[in-house]
Amino acid sequence: MANIILIGFMGAGKTTLGLRLSRECNLPFVDTDQRIEEEQQRSIRAIFAKEGEMYFRTLETKQLKKLMQGPDCIISVGGGLPVQKVNHPLLKQLGNTIYLKASVKTLARRLQGSNSRPLLQGGNLEEKIAKLMEEREAIYEQVADYRIETDDKTIEEVIVQMQSLIC
Ligand code: S3P
Repeated sequence: MANIILIGFMGAGKTTLGLRLSRECNLPFVDTDQRIEEEQQRSIRAIFAKEGEMYFRTLETKQLKKLMQGPDCIISVGGGLPVQKVNHPLLKQLGNTIYLKASVKTLARRLQGSNSRPLLQGGNLEEKIAKLMEEREAIYEQVADYRIETDDKTIEEVIVQMQSLIC
């Protein structure tokens, strides 16, 4: 299949850029977090609070499997999805993966005041991001077919770069 899958840390711009790219390429856009919230009829925060993170991870994997049956899309996935090994062959099968990379400082600036992400609640935001990033960075790099640095770039610049990779 030839989906384009955007991966990266929370706040990397996966949803915003995915939506824009889908318009440019005239392809449908799917955000796995949004799909989960729609199907569950509640927020990710509520799912984490009631059933915990591992249950949410099983919902993410189910979404990937469903996408296997659909038409080609631009897909944005939650920041933790590529961390689960079970998802690696599914991502490979689905298409080409682009890692949207951003520095801890940029992410902290973008995520300041966000209360929808359970893994970043409480404590020092920048420290939390740095710790999680340390665990995840190598995995993002390993899973991705392409990487785009987004620090100091406008949305338009990133879109042009994505198009040059996938066209
Ligand atoms: C998570 C990222 C979130 C969401 C959930 C867990 C993570 O998605 O799936 O809060 O583990 O990084 P975004 O990356 O779209 O914020």
